[in-house]
Amino acid sequence: MSVLATQVEEPTKWGTATEVTADRYSRTNTMQRGYGHALTEMMNISKGQHVLVAACGPGSDVLDIAQIVGPTGKVVGFDLDKYSIKRAREALEEHPELKPYVELHVADVHDLSMFAGQKFDAIHCNMSYHWFSDKPLFLAQAATLAKPGTAIGLATQDGAFLLPIQDVRNDVLAELGEPVDNFIWPSTLSEMQRDLSAAGFGDVKVSRGFGTRTLDSVEALWNWCNDSTGNRFGYHLQGEKAERMKEMVMESFRGLALEDGRAILQFKHLSTVSYYGR
Ligand SMILES: C[S@@+](CC[C@H](N)C(=O)[O-])C[C@H]1O[C@@H](n2cnc3c(N)ncnc32)[C@H](O)[C@@H]1O
Repeated sequence: MSVLATQVEEPTKWGTATEVTADRYSRTNTMQRGYGHALTEMMNISKGQHVLVAACGPGSDVLDIAQIVGPTGKVVGFDLDKYSIKRAREALEEHPELKPYVELHVADVHDLSMFAGQKFDAIHCNMSYHWFSDKPLFLAQAATLAKPGTAIGLATQDGAFLLPIQDVRNDVLAELGEPVDNFIWPSTLSEMQRDLSAAGFGDVKVSRGFGTRTLDSVEALWNWCNDSTGNRFGYHLQGEKAERMKEMVMESFRGLALEDGRAILQFKHLSTVSYYGR
């Protein structure tokens, strides 16, 4: 099978995600789920609240939060990727009791006008902020949906660290004479504090940490890297160059693998919760 088999029709800002990548991501995003759950706790989301889940992907946080807020609350999830939202809708079908107070939409974080007039108690954004090309614009949009005391939670990659998988990607692309800066834009804590403050969110609480996830093989790690990044990790190249990139990355990944062939993914996260008007 060609390495381009999962490449797709219409690139969006989220790269070239497909039905295949969205479905596989919904099964392999256990690390992201852990961070999403921890963020929900850190935000102290509670019964009866109205919660916006920004860039919700296949919807695991939407369903978890819906269980917490219950029928007196409301959960609105959205994502740019229509395949992820399709997956989230399918997941919601398996929980019909949640349907009366859960909404799912396709939307871009840089334009939240479809929610104009609504105010939320909490805005939850897990493992996605590092992908937003204009973070101040997203935060300014979020502020229009906030009221005094609204909590915004951002769990993201810590911009102070380059992940080992990004090191591998950068080395391979440099060797192929390709640009490396088209991938991910994580913020440092001070950049996050600056941008949150400019949008009116203060009293920032911070959690940072190091996480690992073991995948069954280097091929599984390659898939994870692409499924979690809208295929931007390695499928943004075309033809022979794409084939060569996959070979070179897999070779490096094999060098990092355990004796039994499993591959360890290392991640450095930064989570903040801050409050509108404080
Ligand atoms: C790594 S996934 C995280 C998904 C989910 N929050 C989770 O924890 O599993 C990143 C998500 O950000 C979404 N995304 C990226 N840029 C976006 C944008 N501009 N507007 C809305 N969603 C965006 C992608 O479509 C993708 O679903």
